[in-house]
Amino acid sequence: MAAAGLLLLLHLLSNSIFLASGSKDCHADDKTALLAIKAAFSPSYLDMSWLSDAAPCCDWYGIECEHDIDIDRSWGRVTSLAFLRDANLTGAVPGDAIAGLTHLQELLFFKVPGVSGPIPDSLAKLSGLTSLTISRTGVSGAIPSFVGSFTKLQELRLSFNSLTGAIPASLAAPPQLIVIDLSRNRLTGSIPPLLFSKFVPSTYESGVYLTLSHNNLSGSIPAQFAAVSFLGFDVSRNQLTGDASPVLSGRGRPVVTVNLARNRLSFNMSGVEFPDKVNDVDLSHNAIYGGIPARVGNLTDLQQFNVSYNRLCGELPAGLSRFDVYNFQHNKCLCGAPLAAACATASSRH
Ligand SMILES: *[C@@H]1O[C@H](CO)[C@@H](O)[C@H](O)[C@H]1NC(C)=O
Ligand SMILES: *[C@@H]1O[C@H](CO)[C@@H](O)[C@H](O)[C@H]1NC(C)=O
Ligand SMILES: *[C@@H]1O[C@H](CO)[C@@H](O)[C@H](O)[C@H]1NC(C)=O
Ligand SMILES: *[C@@H]1O[C@H](CO)[C@@H](O)[C@H](O)[C@H]1NC(C)=O
Ligand SMILES: *[C@@H]1O[C@H](CO)[C@@H](O)[C@H](O)[C@H]1NC(C)=O
Repeated sequence: MAAAGLLLLLHLLSNSIFLASGSKDCHADDKTALLAIKAAFSPSYLDMSWLSDAAPCCDWYGIECEHDIDIDRSWGRVTSLAFLRDANLTGAVPGDAIAGLTHLQELLFFKVPGVSGPIPDSLAKLSGLTSLTISRTGVSGAIPSFVGSFTKLQELRLSFNSLTGAIPASLAAPPQLIVIDLSRNRLTGSIPPLLFSKFVPSTYESGVYLTLSHNNLSGSIPAQFAAVSFLGFDVSRNQLTGDASPVLSGRGRPVVTVNLARNRLSFNMSGVEFPDKVNDVDLSHNAIYGGIPARVGNLTDLQQFNVSYNRLCGELPAGLSRFDVYNFQHNKCLCGAPLAAACATASSRH
C-alpha cells in the first residue's frame, strides 16, 4: 500500500517535471516575434545573451512566460521582456517586432545606452502593459501620448534618457497608474494638472509616486494635486514657479517625501500645514518667503527639512535645532538654534 503510494507519487512527480520542462517553449507567434527582435539587434549581443533557437524560448535570457496552467489559452505566452545592463546592445527599439508579443505585460530597457531613436509608435499595440521601463538608454524624442491608452498600466519609468517635449496630458488616463518617473530628461512645458486624478487609495495602494526631477519643466504645481495622495513627490531641478501648497499642505495627507529643490517657487510658507507623517522635505534653492510654521518643530517623523537658499524669516521652531545649520543657511532673516543668529526678544517677535 505504502509502496504503491510512493510509486504513484513518483509518477506524478516525474510527470510534473516533464510538464514543467516540456512547457518552456513559448507560443509559436511569440517565438516568431522574439526571433524578429533578435534579428534587429547586433549579433555580438545576441550570441552572448540569447540562447540558441534550439533552447525553449521561455528560457531565454530576459524572457518570462505565462505559466498558469488554469489560463491555458495564455500558456507559453511571453508576458515579460527585459533588456538589462548591456552596452553592446545597439540600434533602435524594434517596435514592430516587440508589438508581435501580444500578451506582453512588462517591457524593460535598463542600462542599455546603445539603444537609441524615438519610442516607436508601433508599441501602441501593447495594450496589456502593466509596467513600462525605458531607463538609462539613448532613447530620444517625445513621450508618446499613446502610453496613456494603456488602461492596465501601473508603473511608467522613462528616466535618464534624452526625451524632449511636453509631458502628455494623456498620462492622467490609466486608472491604476501609481508610479510615474520621467526624471533626468529634457522635458519642457508644464505639469499636466490631472495626473493621478483617477487614483483611489486602497489597502493595497495607499498613494502614488511622481518623479520629474532634472528636467526643464515650467509653470506651477497644479492646484489639483491637493487632492492626490502622494507618497513621494520629486520635481527638483526644474523651472517651476508659484505656490507649492498643493503638495506640501494638508495634515492628514500620506505624503512622505517632498523634493522641490532648485526651482523658482515663491510662496508664503507661514500658512503651510505640513502633513503629520512627512519624513523628508527639501525646499532648498527657491524663493520661498514668510516663516517656518511652529508645527514643523513637532513633526515626529521628520528626518530632513532643508529650506536653505530661500527668503525665509523669523524664529526656527525649537524642534528643528536637532538639524544641522546647512539646512537653514542663506535665508532672509531666520534666527534661533542651530543658526548663529539669535532671535530678538519675545516681545518684539509678537
Ligand atoms: C560586449 O562586447 C565585448 C567585446 O565584443 C565582449 O567582451 C563582452 O563580453 C560583451 N558583453 C556582453 C554583455 O555581451
Ligand atoms: C529651459 O527652458 C527655458 C524656458 O522656459 C529656456 O530659456 C532654457 O534655455 C531651457 N534650458 C535648457 C537647459 O533647456
Ligand atoms: C505670510 O503670511 C502670514 C499669515 O499667514 C502673514 O502674517 C505674513 O505677513 C506673510 N508674510 C509675507 C512676507 O508676506
Ligand atoms: C508642539 O508641541 C508642544 C509640546 O508638545 C505643544 O505645547 C505645542 O502646542 C505644539 N505646537 C504646535 C504648533 O503644534
Ligand atoms: C541643504 O541644501 C543645501 C543646498 O543644496 C546643501 O548645501 C546642504 O548640504 C543641504 N543640507 C543637508 C543637511 O543636506
